[in-house]
Amino acid sequence: MALQVPVLFGSVRTERRGIKAARFVVNELKKYGCEPALVDAKQYDLPLLDKMYKEYDAGKAPVRLEELAKLYRAADGFAIVTGEYNHGVQPGLKNLLDYFLEEYYWRPSAIISYSGGYFGGARAAVQVREILGELGMPAISSVLPIANVGSAFDDAGEPSDPKFRSRNEDFFNEFVWYMEALRAQRAKGVPY
Ligand SMILES: Cc1cc2nc3c(=O)[nH]c(=O)nc-3n(C[C@H](O)[C@H](O)[C@H](O)COP(=O)(O)O)c2cc1C
Repeated sequence: MALQVPVLFGSVRTERRGIKAARFVVNELKKYGCEPALVDAKQYDLPLLDKMYKEYDAGKAPVRLEELAKLYRAADGFAIVTGEYNHGVQPGLKNLLDYFLEEYYWRPSAIISYSGGYFGGARAAVQVREILGELGMPAISSVLPIANVGSAFDDAGEPSDPKFRSRNEDFFNEFVWYMEALRAQRAKGVPY
């Protein structure tokens, strides 16, 4: 079975640019033999967190959360696409992440950061790494930073720079390696 990879994206702005980066990640993961699923915070339209998924009685959680729980339980890894607002994590992404916890455990994550400027969301990537560690899906070493996100892709997520794809092969190969490794390890059982 192909590696199952939810791709979490958290900008809910009307004029959002990062969705093109998220589409690139989805398209690219397919090329590496994975089965990605875009989890778009705008589409899920979750309110600011009141109750986490696990705080609902069995079968009583909103349908959207049940859908995400099912997707996350089947996941082999999580691709986290983060923009940078005021040198920090986008609130839409943090809110999306905070709804769940145990569903993330024992899987690797990979950080794709972006911004409208030159630094490619590097400062948000540092913060997101800490958060993902706490959520039980530690991030792989490599980060894929995307500068000038507005012009880096067309609307379908195709990179404007023909060399962009080959420059990021190591990132995707590393992510796939960790997903395969932890899938094999999870099959033997998990510590708790
Ligand atoms: C509230 C806000 C804060 C921002 N802060 C930063 C920042 O700290 N560093 C940066 O490089 N770009 C910053 N930007 C520019 C964003 O990188 C750029 O607008 C990007 O397209 C935002 O992602 P989105 O369009 O997917 O929402 C900021 C944008 C917004 C809306």
